[in-house]
Amino acid sequence: MKIVSADRLQKLPPYLFAQLNAKKKELKDKGADIIDLGVGDPDLPTPKHIVDALCAQAGNIENHCYPTYDGMPAFRSAVAGWYQKRFSVSLDHNNETVALMGAKDGLAHICWALFGPGDRVLCPDPGYPVYAAQTMFAGAEIVKYPVRPENKYLPVISELPTKGIKAIFLCYPSNPTSAVADLGFYRELVEWAIKNGIIILNDGIYSEIAFDGYKPPSIMQVEGARECAIEFHSLSKTYNMTGWRIGMAVGNSQILSALLKIKTNTDSGVFQAVQYAGIAALEGSQECVKENCRIYQERRDILAAGLKKMGLEFDLPRATFYLWLKTSGKTGSIDFADLLLEKAGVMVVPGIGFGANGEGYVRMALTIPSQRMKEAVERIGKIL
Ligand SMILES: Cc1ncc(COP(=O)(O)O)c(C=O)c1O
Repeated sequence: MKIVSADRLQKLPPYLFAQLNAKKKELKDKGADIIDLGVGDPDLPTPKHIVDALCAQAGNIENHCYPTYDGMPAFRSAVAGWYQKRFSVSLDHNNETVALMGAKDGLAHICWALFGPGDRVLCPDPGYPVYAAQTMFAGAEIVKYPVRPENKYLPVISELPTKGIKAIFLCYPSNPTSAVADLGFYRELVEWAIKNGIIILNDGIYSEIAFDGYKPPSIMQVEGARECAIEFHSLSKTYNMTGWRIGMAVGNSQILSALLKIKTNTDSGVFQAVQYAGIAALEGSQECVKENCRIYQERRDILAAGLKKMGLEFDLPRATFYLWLKTSGKTGSIDFADLLLEKAGVMVVPGIGFGANGEGYVRMALTIPSQRMKEAVERIGKIL
């Protein structure tokens, strides 16, 4: 029997990451030693006090039932407490916070909650592909906006279209460019959004991975943000918990209530023992986060020094664990990534996988130990 999938699946662009993984597997099967700078998945372990909290709660029968849809009050209260401590933002945990199965859960379901045919949604190019894919799944029109190096990878707000636009997705610190946004930018964006009746969907999941003492802000720090915006956050990258599936959305209570309606009809919330582990993460010592940043910074410096010696162009990342490298017009980003994989055994992600404006770049992740990073630099140096 021939199975015909829904039209929306035919409209998805080819999934570059799957193609890359297939190539990597092929080379590995032939015995190649591949250094993977492709995936944005921390190689460091979840801190012990968080694992201990899970273990302590996993056997408790009270945690074995369906959790509440919006998250335990204690978890949402920990989220509000963390926003207060980290950003000096006061949130009412009852209606301004929602627990998520990772930020991706929220990014996907918010599209079902807010968009439909006839709506137009601004998505960054280059940007995390999920924003556009889910906008399309919800039947809305994707309107890509360019983020370019000459404007520090921020949108030019005065040039953003507004006609028929329902919402804008953005992500700072950015995957894939590692660009950051300051409060001045967020102020201008919130003003523009309120004036034009546009919802802001801010993805802030990399805010805790930052270097050289820099502390990325939250859009929620800006006056008026609560009127038009929600922010997605996650424990995935901050506490090395990508596999645990826990995150949060905070901000405008009407938007969150719409999100919750979809989620109530779709999933059944986060395992409570994982929420207890989340509380331990958010309320416990943040030394583990500092240590993560120190490790990523050391790797960043090894990679940056090596690439600089080779005469390659990039901006030194102030945050995220990505380095956005210019292919310097040598080849297209797919050919450049292929060259590194086949000749140096180093896997990177072609920029075009994040949108047409990502052409001419590749993304390198800092998620391998320093010693391997040195080896990656040596190998790249030999072939370029
Ligand atoms: C920009 C961005 N947003 C969201 C996610 C999803 O994160 P989570 O693990 O919290 O679902 C990722 C994962 O790589 C990401 O890069």
